[in-house]
Formats: sequence, structure tokens, C-alpha cells
Amino acid sequence: MDSSPSPQRLFFALWPDAALQQRWSEGVRPHLLGIDGRLVAVSSLHLTLAFLGSVTAERQRCIEAVASEVRVGGFSLVMDRLGYWRRARVVWLGPGRTPAGLRALVRQLEVGVAGCGFEPSRQGFRAHVTLMRQASCAPKGAVFEPLEWCVDRFVLVASQLTPEGARYRVIREWPLARNAG
Ligand code: 2AM
Repeated sequence: MDSSPSPQRLFFALWPDAALQQRWSEGVRPHLLGIDGRLVAVSSLHLTLAFLGSVTAERQRCIEAVASEVRVGGFSLVMDRLGYWRRARVVWLGPGRTPAGLRALVRQLEVGVAGCGFEPSRQGFRAHVTLMRQASCAPKGAVFEPLEWCVDRFVLVASQLTPEGARYRVIREWPLARNAG
């Protein structure tokens, strides 16, 4: 009998603490008034770095080794833009400027997981936090009170699909190296 654990749906992400999630949720509320859609739960707000999909235990070991090899220092992320992807019907919050540290982090993860056999994403990286799905229209105003996020770690998250939407569980985290460069 095969005793290996079943594959998990995994992704790397930046996961803000509960206080920042709450501030985003309160700050964006006035911009979302009157929009019909499915709000992402406050405790699920996150920024995806690399989506992996279904991952076997063996490949999970490989991607965790990749994460442990990442050499990027912490960085500041200012989340000050609201946007709408009309085709995907997604309302998002994002940074007006993507810092070099974030680009380097995504790049190192993408190159590393490619070595574990994962196809690179065809979409390319667009830093965003999904606020609402199946949104009926764009948020009011595109500029949002700049909230600085001091990013000092990244995480691996398991996503379980349920009829109510995805349920996320952080399974491991890595600090961003203070002496990277
Ligand atoms: P989204 O919020 O823009 O939909 C878990 O699903 C996370 O991985 C979400 O943040 C989601 O981004 C992201 N993601 C990226 N590519 C994905 C894909 N092909 N399928 C599902 N989620 C994906």
C-alpha cells in the first residue's frame, strides 16, 4: 500500500500579520462600496510570490530546500494602488513600485522551483493582494493611503479548495536574510 502523503496545493507568499490585514481591510472598505462580489476573508489576505499547484511530498522537499537557499534581504513594500482585472473580475491592492528585493525574491524562487521540475508561470509576476473575486466593477479611485509593509519573511502555504472558497494554512516560513546582498 502506498503510504506517501497525498499531494498538496502549494504556493509561496508574503503573509502580513493580522494587524496589517485588518488595516488593509478597513482602509479599502470605502473603495469597495457598491461592488458586488466575493470578499477575501481578512485573515486570508496575502501576496503570492510563486504558485506551484499540486505538489508531491518529494517535490515539496525540493522546493523547501530551494526556499532555504534564498538570499534576499528584507524590504519595504508600500501598498498604495487599487486595481481591477476586468477579465478575471478581481479587485486587488498592490504597490505602485515593486522593490528590487521583491523582484529578486520572486526570481530566486522561480529559478529554484524550475530546477525541481515546475513549469514557470506564463503570466509573469504582478505583485498584488486579491481583495475581491467575481467583482462586478472596478474600485472607486486607484490610489490608496500608502501603508508601509516591512517585509522580513516569506512563507509556504497550503491551499485547500472548499465550496466556500480556498482555505489557507501557512506550513513553513523563512526569514529574509539580514546579511544578503
Ligand atoms: P490570485 O489571488 O490572483 O487569484 C492561491 O490560489 C494563490 O495563488 C492566490 O493568491 C492566487 O492568486 C495565486 N495563483 C497564481 N496562479 C494561480 C493559479 N494558476 N491557480 C490558482 N491560484 C493561483
